[in-house]
Amino acid sequence: MALHDDDAVLNTAGERSFSELVASRLSRRNVLGGGMASAAAFLAGGRLLEGLAGAAPGAPGRARGDGRGRRPGDLLGFSAIPLGYDDEVHVPPGYATTPFIPWGTPILGSFPEFVPGTPPLVPGGNTAAEQAEQTGMHHDGMHYFPLGRGPAGSERGLLVVNHEYTDEGYLHTGTASRPDKAAWTLEMVHKSQNAHGVSVVEIARDRARRWEVVRSRLNRRITANTAMSFSGPAAGHRLVRTSADPVGRTPLGTVNNCAHGFTPWGTYLTCEENFNGYFRLDPGPYDAEHAALNSRYGVGGDRFNWATHDDRFVVTATDPNEAHRFGWVVEIDPFAPTSTPVKRTALGRLKHEGAFVHVGKGGRVTVYMGDDQANEYAYKFVSAGNARSLQARGRSPLDEGTLYVARFNDDGSGEWLPLVHGQGPLTAANGFADQGDVLVKARLAATALGATPMDRPEWTSVDPRTGLVYLTLTNNRSSAKVENAANPRTPNPWGHIVRWEEAGGDHAATTFSWDLFVLAGQGRNSGDGSTVQEEDAFGSPDGLWVDPDGRVWIQTDGRQPAGANDQMLAANPYVTDAHGAPEIKRFFTGVVGCEVTGVITTPDQRTMFVNIQHPDDGSTWPHDDAFDTPRSGTVVVTRTDGGVIGT
Ligand code: FEO
Ligand code: CA
Ligand code: CA
Ligand code: CA
Repeated sequence: MALHDDDAVLNTAGERSFSELVASRLSRRNVLGGGMASAAAFLAGGRLLEGLAGAAPGAPGRARGDGRGRRPGDLLGFSAIPLGYDDEVHVPPGYATTPFIPWGTPILGSFPEFVPGTPPLVPGGNTAAEQAEQTGMHHDGMHYFPLGRGPAGSERGLLVVNHEYTDEGYLHTGTASRPDKAAWTLEMVHKSQNAHGVSVVEIARDRARRWEVVRSRLNRRITANTAMSFSGPAAGHRLVRTSADPVGRTPLGTVNNCAHGFTPWGTYLTCEENFNGYFRLDPGPYDAEHAALNSRYGVGGDRFNWATHDDRFVVTATDPNEAHRFGWVVEIDPFAPTSTPVKRTALGRLKHEGAFVHVGKGGRVTVYMGDDQANEYAYKFVSAGNARSLQARGRSPLDEGTLYVARFNDDGSGEWLPLVHGQGPLTAANGFADQGDVLVKARLAATALGATPMDRPEWTSVDPRTGLVYLTLTNNRSSAKVENAANPRTPNPWGHIVRWEEAGGDHAATTFSWDLFVLAGQGRNSGDGSTVQEEDAFGSPDGLWVDPDGRVWIQTDGRQPAGANDQMLAANPYVTDAHGAPEIKRFFTGVVGCEVTGVITTPDQRTMFVNIQHPDDGSTWPHDDAFDTPRSGTVVVTRTDGGVIGT
């Protein structure tokens, strides 16, 4: 998002001595040289790729599309497109795009039509109540849940979309012009709160094969004021109790919903990222515990002016805990429109980017998660047992289990360090009186354990064919960046992608082997340390999804190279060139000022949904409406011959 302060380093505890840094720099060369070779060994020579070469892609019993059964070398069957600079969405020849459910699309209640603000009226356009019946702003992570089995499930489904944040100018005036803070009203606060959260929208293909919104009882808006509950070890904890909820079990709303996850039992996970900036921090004085938490999570800023009229977003020394009720992963049942979303505290309190769920050995679920801030960490949660048997006993696999944080050793090995009260440094003497403390203070606990500082961990995804885990590190421009072998460039304006193999292929394992999948930049001859070819230049990888065939879809949030629009590329992880880089092709370029984020296909892989977030003043996208106001929205991507996307 454009309003990030992610380069602010709030984690100062992980800085290493000069001698450690020198040692790291030396070993980094070994890893960059030898690490790639060893990665190639476990990929190209090892059982993983050998197993793939003869395997029919796709899960057993799944409908085969054209392009299935291709050998791994043939994964990217489209013509790469050049960088984009204009206000159009571009895709390869043979593909078509259509804007879909942009901000303000009516989905509920009286189905109010979108009306942009009209400057200088404040507020302009739709009312707060109307906004609550329309899709929110700034689409981000997203999933498609099929309605119906087999082919029917790719014709009708629920599209569930995060709305990360709002541009208050466009929201209230229809232009980039943000009203004066002194003119702010409660109505404006409510409109902003209602433009946040999540949309659940039933969609279906009409007779002309176009995707349309269905006026369905399943359609739902979840906002910053939706009633929720806490579960897991921090539910009811003293640090989540407030004057409005003295038992600490009924949090209200979700904000800054960046990336997402989805579970095998049909629920959606929405992740609370930069929640800290929604609060105004009163000067205090705060006790040492709250002072440390406010500092490490960066609480304060009142970026959306909610504190002007909503005291819930004012943190004070006498009522200091509302900020602790955000920064969680929230589980939503999209098929039960009156169900209460649940904040799953066992997954820890971070600036959660995404939560990718993988079902591993014994039916245990592993949830991979990034904490997006410079020098913060990568995490995973492993359920205590088989997910289905836990659920059969009325328990959630996301409530019982172990949260781990990653240590990436310079030699290409790695360890998962458990965030468990009483183990190692996580004791009362060190400020962790119980497991609730460990989870509310997850960043502090991870530092105490010796986790590896990373270059802003964003999305994760697991290749369903190899089990390899991919993680985007978007960039790190901070002067306080901590360098290590897994984050080898300082500064790192371009970002990179790491991947790892869990020991024994077991996603519950506590050790792993990692390598650098790709170092982004302008090209390997440009001097920026990138491993990509010049024609595949990109920067600030963020959104990430490995599709069922193994294509690694990479989305960007950096407008790099300079002046270029953000984009989505596809990488073939099974083909590596002499420089250790995967085959990459650019597939999609966005419009002026936007980030490209959120990608999913229907089960038949013949419709892809991609989000355009925060097109700016140079854009009038979408172009099929009557308005100049730029609107975040989804792009429907299809092949003109109806074929499988990417093949
Ligand atoms: Fe909201 Fe870290 O991107
Ligand atoms: Ca993101
Ligand atoms: Ca980002
Ligand atoms: Ca327009």
